[in-house]
Amino acid sequence: MRPFMAKILEKGPLGRDMVRFVLHAPEAFLQPVLPGMFVHIKVPNDASHILRRPISIMDADAKAGSITLGIQPKGDGTQRICTLEPGDEMEIIAPLGNSFALNGAKTVWALGGGVGVAPMLFACHEFSKMAQVTAVLGFRTAEQVYAEGDFAPFADLMICTDDGCRGFNGTVVDAVREKLELPELIIACGPTPMLKAVQAFALERDIPCQLSLEQRMGCGYGACLTCSCKTKRSDGSETFARVCADGPIFDAKAVVL
Ligand SMILES: Cc1cc2nc3c(=O)[nH]c(=O)nc-3n(C[C@H](O)[C@H](O)[C@H](O)COP(=O)(O)OP(=O)(O)OC[C@H]3O[C@@H](n4cnc5c(N)ncnc54)[C@H](O)[C@@H]3O)c2cc1C
Ligand code: FES
Repeated sequence: MRPFMAKILEKGPLGRDMVRFVLHAPEAFLQPVLPGMFVHIKVPNDASHILRRPISIMDADAKAGSITLGIQPKGDGTQRICTLEPGDEMEIIAPLGNSFALNGAKTVWALGGGVGVAPMLFACHEFSKMAQVTAVLGFRTAEQVYAEGDFAPFADLMICTDDGCRGFNGTVVDAVREKLELPELIIACGPTPMLKAVQAFALERDIPCQLSLEQRMGCGYGACLTCSCKTKRSDGSETFARVCADGPIFDAKAVVL
């Protein structure tokens, strides 16, 4: 697994709080890229930040040889990454992690919250080729809504805001409980309280469900155990898995949140 330099082709805002980057990605990288995978980005121009930052692949275009990322400049590392401009290069290791799997489902809910909306776009793009996809996207407030237009060709779309400024007034789980017919598969990415609520809903209704977990990472490829999370064996006993290498996608029945 070797890092490579990916040239920034485009940069622009994504809602109020995030930045969208389109990177040139060589064919060798694009061939195996699947929804749910992530890239691990070196913090530029600073030797003191030795750990890379994990960022989901928001979309990939094999023909154009590009991938899209949506990054929230949160701490120092992501802020530095977001100072890069078109023409600069990002040093990334990619693609990493496992992926969402349709497993023959014909109807899918793609549930995203905040930065967790980003990987849902790639999943909707791919899964809409074989299934009917409904994307339910949650944000704190109207100005944070992003990528609505990108989702439109691939999914029926429902926007939710915590303050009720746009769309459904409440969480994505409140929205699906009230509004939608049950699907054959649920996929979700977002803050842990949202994932817990999605997990409880899916287990209660016995719907297959895959959750994308966020965890602090060191190496990003399974060597350091920084990203361990609790999982359950089929006999109910608990064990540990690595979010970077065994995940970031876990079956809702198998993960302890
Ligand atoms: C699989 C995965 C996919 C992600 N996808 C996206 C995405 O598409 N867009 C986006 O904006 N963010 C995403 N994140 C969160 C993003 O990685 C963190 O916000 C970022 O690493 C924080 O780094 P920082 O330097 O800004 O913050 P700091 O707090 O300065 O970072 C310090 C350290 O903590 C780690 N860290 C801090 N917060 C997180 C976090 N929430 N998750 C993982 N590591 C963290 C950093 O890697 C770094 O090692 C993802 C995280 C994971 C695990
Ligand atoms: S980050 Fe090193 S094992 Fe996951």
